[in-house]
Amino acid sequence: MSTISERKDAHLALAAKPDMQYGHSSGFDDVQFLHNSLPELNLKDIDCSTTFLNKKLSAPLMISGMTGGTEKGAALNHNLAVAAEQAGIALGLGSQRPMLKDAKTLAHYAVRELCPSIPLIGNIGAVNLREYPLEKIEWLVSSIEADALAIHLNPLQEAVQPEGDTDFSGVFHAIGKVCEKLPVPVIVKETGAGLNAPAAQSLFDAGVKFVECSGSGGTSWSKIEYARGGEKKGGAANARLPPSGFEEWGYPTIPSLCECVSIGPTICSGGVRSGMDAAKGLALGATLCGAAQPFFVSPDPAKLAAEWREQIRTAMFLTGSKDLEQFSRAPVFITGRSAELMRLRGLDPSFYAMSAPLESPSNGNERSHYL
Ligand SMILES: Cc1cc2nc3c(=O)[nH]c(=O)nc-3n(C[C@H](O)[C@H](O)[C@H](O)COP(=O)(O)O)c2cc1C
Repeated sequence: MSTISERKDAHLALAAKPDMQYGHSSGFDDVQFLHNSLPELNLKDIDCSTTFLNKKLSAPLMISGMTGGTEKGAALNHNLAVAAEQAGIALGLGSQRPMLKDAKTLAHYAVRELCPSIPLIGNIGAVNLREYPLEKIEWLVSSIEADALAIHLNPLQEAVQPEGDTDFSGVFHAIGKVCEKLPVPVIVKETGAGLNAPAAQSLFDAGVKFVECSGSGGTSWSKIEYARGGEKKGGAANARLPPSGFEEWGYPTIPSLCECVSIGPTICSGGVRSGMDAAKGLALGATLCGAAQPFFVSPDPAKLAAEWREQIRTAMFLTGSKDLEQFSRAPVFITGRSAELMRLRGLDPSFYAMSAPLESPSNGNERSHYL
């Protein structure tokens, strides 16, 4: 087994453990809906279906990218593909870097036949883009018939991984080149440490179509890397002693999401642990909500997605929102640490508590996300 495969299997084993989650909150518990006692809607008519990457979804949900490159990873991708198709939600695959090292591992990611109707999203690390010609990156997408490519940003994980690649210089330029040339949309995602508005702005300027904020409060990649402790067989040639103390490093999902949605289309992820969390992300303006760990540990990911869809529909009903467009304007209160962090970043939490009606007159006094 190669060192990358060993690392991937170790990541899977560790990510299933509850103590690999952040100790601090992603902020969903700081968010509360304004209850609507007079919804004037029939719950059975409420529709949370949507279109993403030109494909219909039964709910605005996505299984965020996780794995591949090992037999275990392949089995997981196959299970998740079947579940995502059954539930009618989008599926992200894990990093396809193993395919660039060994083309035979394509079989671990080739799940299109199992999920013909849903958006399928390829995945590669931003630091890996500089190592390979663009044709190889295009092949990652075409060989699995993906509808988009997610490029992941994981500087925290690399910084605390003994054999991590800590040279992120030139990454932004490389992302821009991929956006220019790739025939499918590019999504840039964090991996649990949270994107902020200036980063999102740069990415949209470079041609990225969606960002996935993936804030802190869910899976902690620094905890996983500390627990793994580097390669066992004598270690890699470039291994270094990573600095301790970064277990709780990261920008929580709620303020991260609010920063990103003020810039462009954003997928909310990082600590989404229920359909209620997903509903809150959607009401704050997310295009979709993604989760990784819950779908990975669930014995029945399709059932889990169906439960989350019903929670989203019920929250829509109780806010008087007949569709997702209205729901994205439902009043929500953001309090506590999330509100404090937002204010310190110049964002106005009350923007979300007094959402504008759909057809607000353009009178020059439009409300702003910012204080
Ligand atoms: C087992 C596991 C493997 C992951 N591997 C990848 C990966 O290969 N590429 C990637 O972009 N993100 C990867 N992630 C990060 C997730 O996509 C997500 O951004 C992060 O886990 C936060 O979501 P969560 O709190 O719902 O787990 C992985 C997450 C898990 C749990």
